Amino acid sequence: MTQKRVLSGIQPTSDSFHLGNYLGALKQWVELQDGNDAFYCIVDLHALTGEIEPALFRKRTLASAAQLIALGISPEKSTLFVQSHVAEHNQLGWIMECIAGFGEASRMTQFKDKSAKGGADSARVGLFTYPMLQAADILLYQAHFVPVGEDQRQHIELTRDLATRFNSRFGETFRLPEGYILKAGAKIYDLQEPTSKMSKSSGSVAGVLEIMDTPEANTKKIKSAATDAGREVKFDEKEKPGISNLLTIHSSLSGQSISELENEFEGKGYGDFKGAVAEVVVEYLRPIRAKALELLEDEKYLTELLHQGADKARVVASATLSDAYKNLGLVK
Ligand code: TYM
Repeated sequence: MTQKRVLSGIQPTSDSFHLGNYLGALKQWVELQDGNDAFYCIVDLHALTGEIEPALFRKRTLASAAQLIALGISPEKSTLFVQSHVAEHNQLGWIMECIAGFGEASRMTQFKDKSAKGGADSARVGLFTYPMLQAADILLYQAHFVPVGEDQRQHIELTRDLATRFNSRFGETFRLPEGYILKAGAKIYDLQEPTSKMSKSSGSVAGVLEIMDTPEANTKKIKSAATDAGREVKFDEKEKPGISNLLTIHSSLSGQSISELENEFEGKGYGDFKGAVAEVVVEYLRPIRAKALELLEDEKYLTELLHQGADKARVVASATLSDAYKNLGLVK
């Protein structure tokens, strides 16, 4: 069987990825590198659509690489690179902007949410054109699958629409990608507000479980997670969003099914259950955090590795871009 192409990206917008990033996407990144040809991109250009502080931004990009490797992304198995190292992303991004409609771009819920949060006047043009750059990220690699969380579904739909439009107007150029979105874990919720997604831009850090947080900090966050009325440990997203979220987290990390967990905690209270969740999370993250901290001590190694990744990525990206240019009638 020929290998499938996989591509995904993550923004280096904080010191640490959170458990939502991991369960929604990164865990699948790790699984999909076996038997597939995987490209994973730290999308630093996308991160420029928000507020950045240069010294911190540089550090966070390297910390992102360290965490990805610590989580199991193997630079031998996959191509790990930084978006700004491969100029083709911007080049195809422009083409995508020129075929996308203003109306369809205006319907992107992430743009609507993010621009509403900061006030429409302070939203950047880059935030608006962000999904077209994301489409370019995906289409350049002729990806079959794009492992992401639920919040990216609409961006993948847009990518497919843009690819279809381009192909039918200018000739077959791009493969139509499919989102690889799992049922369980595709949306992990904030521990304090279990009806909102766990997010880097969340107002309070208390509800966000960070991979680079200390075991003590994560234990405290889990033990003070908002729970629901009653005392039964039962999966019921409507009536018990807090407990259901914790059950999803436990089950995704421990491999125990939700019903096994419900049985195990029958007759026990929320306190016992939270203690067990904390232990699973902390023990799962402990070696990952240690490995990431160790990798971060050697910036030269990380940078070299990212450059090697970019060299590999550029070969694929430039072939696609040159096809797109040719089909558009740009003179070589
Ligand atoms: P980003 O950086 O916000 O998030 C990275 C990945 O984590 C997933 N995710 C979640 N999954 C479950 N529950 C949550 N609470 C949660 N929060 C985040 C996201 O769905 C994502 O898969 N636009 C993208 C980055 C991007 C990209 C791409 C992705 C740029 N180019 C090309 C795929 C392909 C984003 O902002 O992800």
